[in-house]
Amino acid sequence: MLADYSGIHSEVLYYVPYGKTHEVWNVKVTNTSDVKRSLTVSGYCEFTNENNYEQDQVNLQYTLFITRTYFDKNRIKQCINENVNKGATINGADAKLRMFALAGAEVSSYCGDKEEFVGRYHSYANPVGVESGDLGNKLNYNLNSCGALATKVELAPGETKEFAFIVGMKPDAEAAALVDSYADVTAKCKAEYEELVANWHKKLNHFQVNTPSAEFNSMINTWNAYQCFMTFIWSRAASLTYCGQRNGYGYRDTVQDIQGIIHLEPEMAVEKIRFMLSAQVNNGAGLPLVVFDFVPGNSGTPDDPEWVKMTGHPAYRADDALWLFPTVYKYIAESGNTDFIDEVIPYANGGENTVYEHLKLAIDFSMNHLGLHNMPAGLHADWNDCLRLGKKGESTFVAFQFYYAMNILREFATKKNDTEYLAYLDKVQPELYDNLQNLCWEDDRFIRGFMENGTVIGSKKDPEASMWLNPQSWAVISGLATKEQAEKALESVHREINSPYGVCVMGPSYVEHAFDGALMLLFNPGTKENGGIFSQPQGWIILAESLAGHGNRAFEYFMESSPAAMNDKAEIRKLEPYCHGQFTEGPESPFAGRSHVHWLTGTASTVMVGCVEGICGMRPDVNGIKIAPSIPSDWKEFTISKDFRGKHLSIKVENPNGAESGYVSLTVNGKLMEGNYIPETELADENDVVLKMS
Ligand code: GLC
Repeated sequence: MLADYSGIHSEVLYYVPYGKTHEVWNVKVTNTSDVKRSLTVSGYCEFTNENNYEQDQVNLQYTLFITRTYFDKNRIKQCINENVNKGATINGADAKLRMFALAGAEVSSYCGDKEEFVGRYHSYANPVGVESGDLGNKLNYNLNSCGALATKVELAPGETKEFAFIVGMKPDAEAAALVDSYADVTAKCKAEYEELVANWHKKLNHFQVNTPSAEFNSMINTWNAYQCFMTFIWSRAASLTYCGQRNGYGYRDTVQDIQGIIHLEPEMAVEKIRFMLSAQVNNGAGLPLVVFDFVPGNSGTPDDPEWVKMTGHPAYRADDALWLFPTVYKYIAESGNTDFIDEVIPYANGGENTVYEHLKLAIDFSMNHLGLHNMPAGLHADWNDCLRLGKKGESTFVAFQFYYAMNILREFATKKNDTEYLAYLDKVQPELYDNLQNLCWEDDRFIRGFMENGTVIGSKKDPEASMWLNPQSWAVISGLATKEQAEKALESVHREINSPYGVCVMGPSYVEHAFDGALMLLFNPGTKENGGIFSQPQGWIILAESLAGHGNRAFEYFMESSPAAMNDKAEIRKLEPYCHGQFTEGPESPFAGRSHVHWLTGTASTVMVGCVEGICGMRPDVNGIKIAPSIPSDWKEFTISKDFRGKHLSIKVENPNGAESGYVSLTVNGKLMEGNYIPETELADENDVVLKMS
C-alpha cells in the first residue's frame, strides 16, 4: 500500500512469511519534503475476545469478560481465560497469548483497550491517541481489547525509516524471539518477501502461457492459479460470508477444487485426493461434510443421528463421490503415477480397499440409488444445492457424470484386464446411454431431470426454466452427446441463456411455475441458482465448447465471465477484477453484471480446467499428452511452458490461417508425431514442441 500526504511518502507491505503463522506489516516512511519532520507512526489491530467468532459477536455477557492485555517492551500481549487456560492450546497455538509487536523501532506509547484507543466522540477516522501522538498507555481488563503501538520517527529531508508490526499467536518466549529476529528489519523483510515470491513463482512456473490475450495470460499464469490454491486449501470454510461456521470440507466442493492445481502441483493434489477417498463411506457415497478433525475408519455417516446432529447434514447427495472420477483421472494422467490406482485407502466408517475399488463402490452407490427411469436418483441434491429431486426423481447432470465415470473406469479396467468388470460396464453403460438419449433429449436440448412423479424438469415447453446450462455442457464433456446434439445444445445455450456477463445457470428464472423441490425459488430472479450467472458452470461451458472445437465461443465465454475483463467495469461488477465470485446477477436483475461472494468458489478450478484442458488443449492421459487447443481464430501464435512428469515442454502453437481448433502437424524436438499426441516415451528432459494448427 502506498500513500503520499503532506510531504510524507509511506509504504506498507503486508505478508505472511512462507510456511509461518504470523503476519508482518513492513512499513517504510520517507520524508519527501525539504525540512526535517517529526512524526508519530501508529499501528493498530483488533483482537477478538474469543477464538470462536460467533460467540464473540453474540455472547457478549461472556466474551467481554474473559480477556486482558499486557504490555512488554515492544509488544501488546492479549490473554484469554487467563486463569484456567494456562498451557492450553487452540488450533495448535497458545490460545491465551495473542501478540501485536513492533520490530526495528522503539515503542513510544501503547494501548490495549479499544475504547481508550478510539476515544469518546471519536471514530476510526480520528482515534484520539493517533490525533494527539500519544496512545495513552492504557490496557484493557474486560471489555474489548486491541493492540496499538506508536513510535516516534525523526526524518531528515529525503530520509527513509523502516520498521515492522507483527501479529500472531505465540507463547511469551517464542514471541520475544520472533520480534528479536526482526532486529535488522530491512534485511529480514527483504529476505522473507523474496522467499515468498520465489516460492510462488516456483509453483506457478510449472504452467505459463503467453497468448495474445493479456486477460487470459494474467488469469491463467497468476490470479486464477492463486485462487485455485486458495480454494484447494480452504474449500468453502474460511470466510465469514461463506459457511464461516462450517467445521469441515464439503465433499464435492473439495474434490472439485483439487482439479485446479493438478497441472501445477500434482503431488500436493494427491495428498488431498487420499484424504477425500478416505472420507468415502463404505456404501460408496461421499460424506457430505468431512470435519476438519476427521479420522478415517470410525466416522459417523448420514445414517447416524449423532453425526447428523453434529454436522447438520441429514442425507447423501447424488453427486459427491462421482467427482472422484475426473479428479483421480486427472491426477494419474498428469503425474503418470498409475500405481495410485492400487493404493489401499481406508473408508470413512470402516474397512479399506484400493483406489480402483473405491471408484467401483462409487458406481455401486449410484446403481443402488436409481430413480423412476433407472437413472441416478436426485436425492438430497446434485451439484445444484437447490434441486431437491428425492429418491425417485432423477438428475440428467448426475446421469452424465455417471456415464463419464464409467468411461474412466473402463479405461482403468482395461489397463487392469478386469474382464468381469468390463462385461458389467458393457451391460449397464449402454442402458444408461439409451435412457439419456431416448428420454432426456428434446429437439435441441437435454432436459434437467424428472420429478418423483415423472414430470420433466427443464422441458422446452416449460414457461420457466426451459433451458438449463449444465446438462448441455455435461452432455458434451461426458462424451455422450452426438456431434449433432452437441452443436444444437451448445447453440441453444448461446441463444437462450447467454448474457454479456456469462451464461445463466438456467432461464427464465422461476417465479410462478417452480416445481416442489425447486429451492431456488427463494432467490430473486436472476440471482444465484435462480437464473443467476452461476460462475462455476462457466468453466464447464468453456470446456464443452473447446471439446466441440469451438475456440471462438470458448474464448467468448472466458471473456464474458473473466474478472480480468472487468477491470474497467468495476462500477458494474463491484468484485475485485482478479478473483472469481460465486455468481453474477443475470439479465433479469436490475443489477445485471454485479458479482458476489468472492474467492471461495469452485469457479477457480472449473475455469482453470476449462482454460488449460479446453482452450490450451493440454490433455494428458495415462501414456502421454494430447495437444489440442481450441482458440479464438485471431490467435495467430502463442506459447506454453509446461512441466510434465519431471520434464519440460516449450510448446509453440502456430495458427497463421486462423483456425479455431484442429491441427496440421505436431513435432517434438524436430520429430513428426502421429496425430497431435506425444507419447511419454518421446520426451527428453527439455522438449521443443511445435503444433501447427493451420
Ligand atoms: C455453492 C456450493 C456448491 C454447489 C453450488 C451450486 O457453490 O458450495 O456445493 O455445488 O453452490 O448450488
